[in-house]
Amino acid sequence: MNKVEIIGTGSYVPSKIVDNNELSHTVDTSDEWIISRTGIKQRRISEGEDTSDMATKAAINAIKSAKIEVSDIELIILATATPDNFIPSTSCIVQKNIKAVNATCFDISAACSGLIYGIDAAAQFIRTGRFNTALVIGAETLSKIIDWKDRNTCILFGDGASAVVLRKGEEEGILSIKTGSDGSKGRALICPAVPVNNFLSGNEMYLNKSTVSMDGKEIFKFAVKVLVKLVQELADESNCDLEEIKYIIPHQANYRIIECAAKKLGINSNKFYTNLDLYGNTSAASIGIALDEVYKKSLVKRGDKILIIGFGGGLTYGGIMIEVL
Ligand code: ACO
Repeated sequence: MNKVEIIGTGSYVPSKIVDNNELSHTVDTSDEWIISRTGIKQRRISEGEDTSDMATKAAINAIKSAKIEVSDIELIILATATPDNFIPSTSCIVQKNIKAVNATCFDISAACSGLIYGIDAAAQFIRTGRFNTALVIGAETLSKIIDWKDRNTCILFGDGASAVVLRKGEEEGILSIKTGSDGSKGRALICPAVPVNNFLSGNEMYLNKSTVSMDGKEIFKFAVKVLVKLVQELADESNCDLEEIKYIIPHQANYRIIECAAKKLGINSNKFYTNLDLYGNTSAASIGIALDEVYKKSLVKRGDKILIIGFGGGLTYGGIMIEVL
């Protein structure tokens, strides 16, 4: 089996900042409530850029940091819950934009675990020798599927994109991976697509806007449970103590989820890298935005271990222990 290295990261967020006070003019909420329940202070909201636009910018940043030619990319996997279209896939639009003519492209749907599932899939293609170089992107324009009148959900989310370049390597950069799903609890976080509506179905034509609805408490419990389980299992499988992990980078959903998991694990919540105060929950993009920040700020050095963990709609979850090379 080939070894897999992470050789570049990139991210992009829209320039428009919407803070909690601005939201309190549209729904009955307050800066104090949002910060105390979630840790979020502000989020970036698209003023027109779609998922492929942000994904393209994150991809270009990642390719630059990986110092590869675009023509080296043989695979593009894009994780999103907010594609530009049903057809074509957003990954194919990014391929066109960056001119990655040698790439096979497809999208995956795994909500906030999307980047983890994407890296897992790309790593398998590289390990087995099918492809040498892969670009994995997590990108979301969540603002287009939010009900901006629902205070239970609209305060949580933001827009953005992130990307990671993986390559067949001399050294092993991915120490262990775990993923799982629980479709039986899928309704805890849902955004419906179009219903069956053809000349046989008898449904009336309707074009309601699809928006996110969520059982916040159910998601909270699930998130804490899988976060704790993945940290323990991935540390065991990689033969490392929790102290040896430089950073745990969880999906950036809610600071209280992270605090609760840290308490159950008996570790300081400082070990969890967070930037959700600035970006809110950007679903498939969130882990990659934080990972890019950690690399770009030189917060890690060769030999450090980073654990990235996703959890979200589906329900889905997964984590990857990375060794910095
Ligand atoms: N501002 C003010 N009050 C609010 C707001 C708001 N934005 N939203 C809800 N409330 C009110 C509710 O209406 C309720 O009022 P009531 O008691 O009069 O009915 C009260 O606040 C308490 O509501 P709860 O839902 O019990 O609040 P809770 O403490 O559970 O916090 C939250 C809600 C923040 C959504 C929490 O459940 C949570 O974080 N869940 C995790 C969900 C999550 O992170 N989802 C992201 C997507 S999934 C993912 O990324 C994994």
